[in-house]
Amino acid sequence: MTHSGNSGPTDQPKVDGERLWASLMDMGRVGATPGGGSGRLALTDLDREARDLFVDWCRGAGCAVRIDRMGNIFARRAGAGKARSPAMTGGHLDTQPLGGRFDGVYGVLAGLEVVRTLNDAGIETEAPIDVVVWTDEEGVRFGSGMIASGIFAGIYDLDHGLACADADGKTMGEELERIGYAGSEPVGGYPVDAFIEAHIEQGPVLESEGKPIGVVLGAQGQRCFRVTVEGEEGHAGTLPMKRRRDALLGAARMIDAVNRVAFSHQPHPMITVGAVWVRPNSRNTISGRTEFAIDARHPDDDLLATVDDDMRRACGEIAREAGLGVDFEQTSDRQTVTFEKSCITAIREAAEALSLPHRDIYSGAGHDACNISACTPTGMIFVPCEKGISHNEKENARPEDLAAGCDVLLRVLLGRAGARE
Ligand code: GLV
Ligand code: MN
Ligand code: MN
Repeated sequence: MTHSGNSGPTDQPKVDGERLWASLMDMGRVGATPGGGSGRLALTDLDREARDLFVDWCRGAGCAVRIDRMGNIFARRAGAGKARSPAMTGGHLDTQPLGGRFDGVYGVLAGLEVVRTLNDAGIETEAPIDVVVWTDEEGVRFGSGMIASGIFAGIYDLDHGLACADADGKTMGEELERIGYAGSEPVGGYPVDAFIEAHIEQGPVLESEGKPIGVVLGAQGQRCFRVTVEGEEGHAGTLPMKRRRDALLGAARMIDAVNRVAFSHQPHPMITVGAVWVRPNSRNTISGRTEFAIDARHPDDDLLATVDDDMRRACGEIAREAGLGVDFEQTSDRQTVTFEKSCITAIREAAEALSLPHRDIYSGAGHDACNISACTPTGMIFVPCEKGISHNEKENARPEDLAAGCDVLLRVLLGRAGARE
C-alpha cells in the first residue's frame, strides 16, 4: 500500500463506524443522566473515570500517554520520522451538567478511532499522531472554559489556570492533584504540525441541507461577564414594596434588557443568561445581592463591542432607576477566529475525495481549536446532529455521519502526518 501527498491516499482504509459508536456509548455511560445524556463536570470523579477509560483504550491501542500540568492528556501514536512535529486531533471529555454524549467526546473518540484504524491497516506515518483531551472546555465549574487549551496556545499563564476556583473555592490545581491528573509535562511550548478537531455542528444547518460534512471556516467572537447587582436584604412580609432595593428583581429586569439588546441587533448577536446566583436565596428574604452570567457572541468583533456597550448602558439605567448597584466583571474576551487555509482546504478536499457532500460553515460555539489556532495551523470538521440540539441530554447524531466525519479526519491526518511508502 502506498500513501503520500497532502490530499491523502487514494486507497485509504475506512474507519470502523460501529466501533466508534460503541466507544461513544461506553463513554456516555460515565456520568449518564436520566434523560439519556452525560453529566461530567471538569475535574470531578466522573471526569477522572472518563479520563481513565480513555487512557486505558489508548494504551490498548499502543499509544504512549503524556499528561501536562493542566491535565491535558496526549495519547501519541508514534511516527517513523524521529524529528517530526505531531499532527494533533482531539476534543474534550467534560460536559455540561445535563450534557449530551457527543459534544467534545466525538472529537476525542474520533481521534482514537483514527489510531485504531491505522493500527488495523498496518499504516505507519512519518509524523506522530497525538490524540488530545483538553481539560475543562465547557467552563461550567471554574467560571471560564478553554483555559487549559489557552495556556497550551500561550494565551493565558499556567498560574492563572491552576488558580481558577469553583464555587466552593477549590482550584483547578487542587482538583487536578485530587483526581490524579496533575501531570509533570510543561503546557505547550513545542511545535505542532496541525490541530484538526472533529465536532458535532451543535446547530441545524448540516442536517437541514442533508450534508454530512461541514468545513469550518472559523468561529464567532465571545464576551462573557459576571454581573453583580447590589441591593439590600429585607423581610418579605414587612418591608413596603416601595422601599425595597431588590437585587433579584433588578437582575430579572437586566436579564430582560440584555435579551432586548440581542433582538435590537439581529440577525447576529446571541446573548444568553444561563446562570443566576441569588443571595441569600431564601423565599422570605428580599435578595441583597444577585449575580448572573452573560454569554454574548457575534461574528463581528466591532459589533460585539457595540453590543457590550449597549448591555452595560441598559443595565446601568435599570440600576439607577431602582437604587441598585451594578458591576460588570468580564470573564472572557474571545475574538473571532479564522482557521488556517491549508487545513480548510485539506478538509474540503478530503470530503470531496470521499464523495461526501459538504458545505463551508462558521462555528457558533467555542472550541479548544479556536485557542489552538493561535499557535498552530488549525481546522475543524463538523458533522450534523439531530435537530441541531446540543447542550442537552437529548443531543444525538447518526452513526453514519459520525463515521463520515471520522473518515475525513483520518484522511486529513494522514495527509499531514505523511503515510510511509
Ligand atoms: C462551548 O460549549 C461553548 O460555550 O461554545
Ligand atoms: Mn464542545
Ligand atoms: Mn459544549
